Amino acid sequence: MNQFLSSSLILALLLASTTSAVAVKRDGGYSKINRQAVGPNLRNGVMALDRTMRKYGIQPPQELSDAATQQKNAITSGAAASTNEKVVVGGGTESGSVVANPMLHDQEYLSPVVIGGQTLNLDVDTGSADLWIFNTALPAEDQQGRTVYNIDKSKELTGYTFGVNYGDGSQTYGIVARDTVEVGGVSVSGQAIELPTAVSHEFTNDTNSDGILGLAFYSANTIKPAKQKTFFESAMASLKAPVFTANLKAGSAGSYEFGYIDNTAYTGTLQYTPLIQSASAVGLWAFEANPGTNASPAIADTGTSLLLLDDDIVRAYWAPVPGHTSDPQGITFPCDVELPDFKIKLGDYTATISGSLLNYSAADEAGYCFGGIQSNNGQGINVFGDVLFASQFVVFDGGQNRIGFAPHA
Ligand SMILES: *[C@@H]1O[C@H](CO)[C@@H](O)[C@H](O)[C@H]1NC(C)=O
Ligand SMILES: *[C@@H]1O[C@H](CO)[C@@H](O)[C@H](O)[C@H]1NC(C)=O
Repeated sequence: MNQFLSSSLILALLLASTTSAVAVKRDGGYSKINRQAVGPNLRNGVMALDRTMRKYGIQPPQELSDAATQQKNAITSGAAASTNEKVVVGGGTESGSVVANPMLHDQEYLSPVVIGGQTLNLDVDTGSADLWIFNTALPAEDQQGRTVYNIDKSKELTGYTFGVNYGDGSQTYGIVARDTVEVGGVSVSGQAIELPTAVSHEFTNDTNSDGILGLAFYSANTIKPAKQKTFFESAMASLKAPVFTANLKAGSAGSYEFGYIDNTAYTGTLQYTPLIQSASAVGLWAFEANPGTNASPAIADTGTSLLLLDDDIVRAYWAPVPGHTSDPQGITFPCDVELPDFKIKLGDYTATISGSLLNYSAADEAGYCFGGIQSNNGQGINVFGDVLFASQFVVFDGGQNRIGFAPHA
């Protein structure tokens, strides 16, 4: 798109409303590259649990956060120096796909997103609604060793700010601008992008990641004085179908696709369940788990590693596992014990997550492995992270406000 057209679009949009963005269908734009393993496999259950709790405003037990800090410090940023494959955005259709790369701790996945012509590796996060990126307004030390967005290229939304709290007293906050955001060939001009002037410690050491692409809903967005639509909400109307999918099967190249459901990616029939409104999950992809019971609202979160579930569900799962321990640092089990499969109702559909996927991380000195199912400490939300996505192909249907599941092919 030429400069004049893009500026006039932005102008038109500013005149119409400062809260909308314009989606543009690209003629080219379907790309897929193979996943490349990044860094050593340092999957760490304690860190994953600590991080998940903080994301959802659950105070981690002191023993857990101490252990997480200790282990974080032991893992030097050296491991993060490995390279990420950058996407080559190619030609295609009005649907687009980006490939997820496993990261430093195998807890996050990065996908290439082109913003203002610059390719950044972002964490695609269905559990938040902010698109924020490392940029040239940050202190020099926070820019080192990663790709940063050049803020000179953006059009600032004067008077707008954002702030995301990561629950450890640290915040990511800053200014807001608009630019063209392109995900695997689908592009949105005038998309709100958040440009932190300070980034939470959580992220500064992780030089693989250039930021987060939140794909939940408007009402969870943190921009003030007026919340802004997410990339998906902006793009939805011009997609071939108003959906995106997460295909993050364990041990294979993961991908996200926009506007298209790949029928070869799953087996059987997609089972849909409606989204629900919930005070504990405002603006998130929330649905009912184990309907008819007192189960807390469930959410599908690609930006989280574990399953963080109601205590009765957690107890029922672990009860038959010999030797499992449940202490403040998380539920562990003797590594030589084969875990049972986990059955859970996602709406009316019973998903079966194989026991092997619930063996989250390797043995500690005592020979205990970290469980993929952990307690939400009674905090009233069931979080379904990567462990679910490793087992199920998931459709995020914004057109019909529903979410669909089927086992991976
Ligand atoms: C970041 O890395 C430095 C040096 O590798 C370390 O001292 C510091 O504790 C780390 N901070 C966090 C929050 O991980
Ligand atoms: C669980 O995973 C660890 C490696 O992460 C492995 O050493 C162990 O054998 C696994 N346990 C089972 C029962 O497969």
